[in-house]
This record gives sequence, structure tokens and C-alpha cells, in this order.
Amino acid sequence: MAGTWLWAFLLAVIVSYCSAEQQILQEEKTRGGVLRRFSTESAVQSVLAVAQEHDLDIWHATDAFVDVYFPPDAPFLPQELAQLRHTSTSISVNVPPLALSHSAWNISSLENTTFHDHYHPLSEVQSFIKQLAATYPNITRLVNLGLSAEGREMNGLTISTGAYNEGEEDEESGGRRKKKAPKKTPVAHDGEKLGFVIVGAQHAREWIATAASTYLAQAIVANSSEHYSLSKLLDHFDFHIIPMPNPDGYEYTWESDRYWYKNRQVIGPYTECVGLDMNRNWGYKWRPEATDNKQYRHLNSQAKPRVPTNPCSHWYPGTRPFESPEVNNIANWIATLPNVIAFVDLRSYGQMISSPYSYTCKRLPKDAEDQIEAALGASHAIKSVHGTEFKVGSLCSTLYPAYGNIVDWMYAREAIKYSYVAHLRDTGTYGFSLPEKWIRPTGEETGGMIQYIAKFIAKQAKRTF
Ligand SMILES: *[C@@H]1O[C@H](CO)[C@@H](O)[C@H](O)[C@H]1NC(C)=O
Ligand SMILES: *[C@@H]1O[C@H](CO)[C@@H](O)[C@H](O)[C@H]1NC(C)=O
Ligand SMILES: *[C@@H]1O[C@H](CO)[C@@H](O)[C@H](O)[C@H]1NC(C)=O
Ligand SMILES: *[C@@H]1O[C@H](CO)[C@@H](O)[C@H](O)[C@H]1NC(C)=O
Repeated sequence: MAGTWLWAFLLAVIVSYCSAEQQILQEEKTRGGVLRRFSTESAVQSVLAVAQEHDLDIWHATDAFVDVYFPPDAPFLPQELAQLRHTSTSISVNVPPLALSHSAWNISSLENTTFHDHYHPLSEVQSFIKQLAATYPNITRLVNLGLSAEGREMNGLTISTGAYNEGEEDEESGGRRKKKAPKKTPVAHDGEKLGFVIVGAQHAREWIATAASTYLAQAIVANSSEHYSLSKLLDHFDFHIIPMPNPDGYEYTWESDRYWYKNRQVIGPYTECVGLDMNRNWGYKWRPEATDNKQYRHLNSQAKPRVPTNPCSHWYPGTRPFESPEVNNIANWIATLPNVIAFVDLRSYGQMISSPYSYTCKRLPKDAEDQIEAALGASHAIKSVHGTEFKVGSLCSTLYPAYGNIVDWMYAREAIKYSYVAHLRDTGTYGFSLPEKWIRPTGEETGGMIQYIAKFIAKQAKRTF
């Protein structure tokens, strides 16, 4: 009898010890750091340079301020920055519980589904995409793009109402394989759809970008009688969506480090650091250095050109373009898609629509005028939905110069005329921890942007909705 009590007592001690341990682990995971905003106007470029020098985590930059994040385990503030005037915000880390039921979302309606009320871990995003494809089998196609660095399957979702039968036999031409229209033709022939590509968060921590891409996917298939449905756009466009370009990094943000940025690739035998910056790994104007230090040197004598970039840096571009299997898989798929005329890379945060180029502020593409005109209209369209203000400009001028960016590759290599980057909400109050209640409004206004760009292009191609 006494023995039984003793066992019960020991068991109780072990259980409470384990749950205390779990509590501590949970607290470790949710311990936030400090976001410092440096807004002394003349200092922006030198803050960027110093941050680069010390491999600090730059969250956002404009011509008026730079946000730099200092995690709790690495609060080091370099002397050069400590003396500059800045504001500090504590950043909390809220990783929602993982145990949502897959069957809980009734996706038969855009307005009534609960899916877009929450952020979701990788497995749930993937089952949502599969469920969407299964619910709308005659207008969707789920494509396997290949494996991520850690071996996860990557998916693309094509939404099309027809006249897009890639690889099928064309009966009218005597059973011969239908010839694809020349890819670079911006205006497709009658009956042929134009392609519109949307990519979610390459940077793992930009959760709202992945959430917005799943919202858009559902808005595109949703019955046109529903508010915010985008299905009318299918009359002239095929959509190709990659909600989860960085599955390994995304999973890591849920399990270990909420503000992880890169993919999770192990590069070379001698580096202790994992991952490269996917959005510096594309094959147009790729460079082994993360940024053009020459552009900063006159502002900060200490900014030495460092080639190549430290593999531990957030901005590590890898040792060669397309080294990231994820980037390579996406590029290979895009290259097979016909008549693509529009591309939007969803990111956060900052509320900006940006056109090429990223690699330089000194040159604009020959299509800049049309690109900016459509972007300005799109920013008005966004504002008309919930009043959110978006800035417009080239990516280099709205952010900072960066090589090997996806938008430059899509425009210059794939000849996608209307190529953009959209930094979604907010402007720094919550940064990457945008509260869940804003997922829907963000999805709705991003839908307004997609619709405007599509209609602008259709109008130029003399098509009407
Ligand atoms: C999902 O919602 C629709 C109406 O929006 C309803 O007809 C259907 O029964 C629901 N399905 C489930 C499984 O609850
Ligand atoms: C959404 O739910 C409301 C309230 O139950 C219902 O009236 C409406 O028809 C639903 N919408 C769709 C598209 O199912
Ligand atoms: C898809 O199938 C439904 C019925 O299952 C049909 O009503 C609808 O018209 C079809 N859509 C297309 C684009 O073929
Ligand atoms: C779309 O909604 C309308 C009105 O509610 C309905 O009559 C129609 O059947 C729906 N179409 C599809 C394909 O579900």
C-alpha cells in the first residue's frame, strides 16, 4: 500500500517537473527581442551599412528609417548605432497552438470558411491547398515542383477554366502536339489565356504573405456571387500560385525560431551556419556579396566590401545562382508556363508595390512607365478596399539595392512585363507578427490589387470583362 503511494508521489513529481520544463521551453520560444527604428534621415544608408557590417537583422528599410531587430539571445548594439537617436519596441512572439483540426474549415465558401481567421503550420497549409484542389477539380491542377533542401514536397497550384491543355493532344491539328504560343508574346491569341503568377513567402517569417496567397487562391475559385470573389478574372487569366516557396524555413518558424528568414539548406562542409537567402539566389544579376557596398562606402568609411558574404548572414546569397533547390524548382516550373504576363511576389512588411529593378537604383526597365502606371492604379485599388496606403516605386528605391532578386529574374529572364513585389501590412507596429484578425482584410485588399493589375493588362490587350 505504502509502495503504491510512493509510486504515485514520484509520478506526480515527474509529471510536474516535465510540465515545468515544457513551460520553460515554451517561454524560451516565445521570448521576443527588441525592434529599434533609426529614423534620423541622413543616417539611413550608414545604419544599413553598419547593420550589414555586423550581420544584424534588418527587418525593413525605407528612405526615412531602418528597422533593426535584436533577438533576446543576441542583444549586441554596435557603438555606431547606440549613439544614433532611435525608438525601441519590444516584440512579442506568438506562435499559435498547433492542434487545429484539418476538417474544421468548410471551404465551400470564401466568406464563411474559418481557415483565413488564423495562421497555419505547414501541414495545414498543404492540406488546405489539397482540399481546394479536390473541391474544384475541373478548374485546378496541383503540380509537384520537386523537393526542398530537407526533402519536403513543393507544390504549385494552377487555376484555369480551360483553353489551357498543356501536353494534351490537339484534335484539330490531326493529333499532333499543340504548339505552345511563343512565351514572350504579351498579348495571347483569341481564346488563349494570359498567365498570372503569384508567389508566397520566400522569407520564412513573412507569414502574412503565405496567408494572403492561400486567401487569393480561394478567392479565385470562389463562386462569383460571393463578395471578394476573383473568379471573373479566369475569363482572361490562368493563375499559377506557389503559396509555400520555402517549406523548410516556414516549418522552422513554427517549431524553433519565429523570425527565421532563409531556407534550411546546409551549404558546404565548412560552414556552421544553415540556409541561404532565397531572394538573393535568383539567376539575374546574382553576386556573391549581398549588397553593393560601394553604394555605402562614401557614407561610412568602415563599410568594407566583403566578398563573399558571411554564410551566417541573413542575406547570404549562396555560392552560385539557383543553389537553393526551392528557387531552382520554382524557376523550372515558371519556365514551362505559357503566356505569363504578370507576376506578384508577396512579402511583408512595409505596404509597398515595387517594380524592377532590385539590383540597381541607377537604371529603370524599358517598361517602367507602364509598370508604374499599373502599380499606382493598384495602390488606389488597395486603398479603396480598407483605406490602407501603399507606396509605389522601383524595388531598389523603395527598399535597398539587392542582387539576385526574384522580381528582376521574372522580368529580365522570363520577360514577364508586369512583375512586382508587394510588401503587405503593416508599417512596423507589429512587423512580422501581424495579428490574425488582419489576415482577411489583408487578403481582401491584396485581391483588389490583383484584380486591378489583371484588368489593366486586359484593357491594354483590348479585352473586356
Ligand atoms: C459547408 O457549408 C455549406 C454552405 O456554406 C453547407 O451547405 C455544407 O453542408 C457545409 N459542409 C459541412 C461539412 O459542414
Ligand atoms: C455564409 O453563412 C451565412 C450565414 O450562415 C449564409 O447566410 C450565407 O449564405 C453563407 N454564404 C455562403 C456563400 O455559403
Ligand atoms: C466545373 O464543374 C461543375 C459541376 O461539377 C460545373 O457546374 C462547372 O461549369 C464546371 N466548370 C468548368 C469551368 O468547367
Ligand atoms: C454560385 O452561386 C449562385 C447563387 O448563389 C448559384 O446559383 C450557383 O449555382 C453557384 N454556382 C456554383 C458553381 O456553385
